[in-house]
Amino acid sequence: MRRIAVLTSGGDAPGMNAAIRAVVRTGIEGGVEVFGVRNGYHGLVNDNFFQMGARNVGGIIQRGGTILGSARCLEFKTEAGRKKGLRCLNQHGIDGLVVIGGNGSQTGSNEIAKLGFPVVGVASTIDNDLYGSDVTIGVDTALNIALEAVDRLKTTASSHQRAFLVEVMGRDCGYLALMTGIAGGAEAVVIPEIETKPEEIGEIIESAYERGKSHAIIVVAEGAKYDAAKLAAYFEENYEDLGFKLRSTTLGHVQRGGDPSAYDRILASRLGAAAATCLIGGEHGVLTGWINGAIATTPLAEVVAHKKTLDMELFELARLLD
Ligand code: F6P
Repeated sequence: MRRIAVLTSGGDAPGMNAAIRAVVRTGIEGGVEVFGVRNGYHGLVNDNFFQMGARNVGGIIQRGGTILGSARCLEFKTEAGRKKGLRCLNQHGIDGLVVIGGNGSQTGSNEIAKLGFPVVGVASTIDNDLYGSDVTIGVDTALNIALEAVDRLKTTASSHQRAFLVEVMGRDCGYLALMTGIAGGAEAVVIPEIETKPEEIGEIIESAYERGKSHAIIVVAEGAKYDAAKLAAYFEENYEDLGFKLRSTTLGHVQRGGDPSAYDRILASRLGAAAATCLIGGEHGVLTGWINGAIATTPLAEVVAHKKTLDMELFELARLLD
């Protein structure tokens, strides 16, 4: 292995820069040249490569987003697109690729591996829905942003005797919503993994009011059958009076922006360094993740064949402590 490349793909996650920095510096230290690919698989297919030195990644560990840029690339989902990408890698004499990203990105890296090209994935997504890592880069920061929002909403909710529906990201996974609910002391959590009828949430809000609470916070995962907008519409139509007046806040991309937490910088540094070390050492076709408190590699084929499950005991805990 003489030359490796690194790209970030899919939704950006706070900590991606720390992972890029670790790949570049570990690669150079390990005696290989490192190239960056701009804008994820889009740059791979469209030959957007540049050589990176240790100084290119100076001063980025604390920055959110990704200096390489990211994209969701439809062309790479086709066989022709993947072959085009592979040709670009070969033209630059690149022997191995690090892909920093989540589910869609690692599906792409598995396809590259199937074509016989050495690739290592780095587990990175705020959704925490990737098999092969107990926690992924960006989750801690996103969770803390959502938590701060809940804490802030509570003070205004209490002042006005209101119930708030707070919608958080997570795609089809309820992890961020569940953890935000537990850490934020929410009255209820609505997640895709468990069907909750809107009337159950109505009862929880009414009961909170009747028990003399000053507010009710309902954390709703964006992927739930009844997201915040649907729940709000349901209550508007079916309830004359919930006790509390209702307001709705969608956090959206705010959760993905801004500087990474210490935890994400350290996790990203470790996983990025591990990925470069794997490639240089000849281990590829794997994802570097964090399992049971240590770095672990999982074959990409296994990563894409499995769905990560949510610990349902935590859902029970959220219910118990409402
Ligand atoms: O996968 C990360 C994520 O932020 C999801 O939580 C969300 O559903 C999606 O990306 C949003 O995608 P986009 O940034 O393309 O709108």
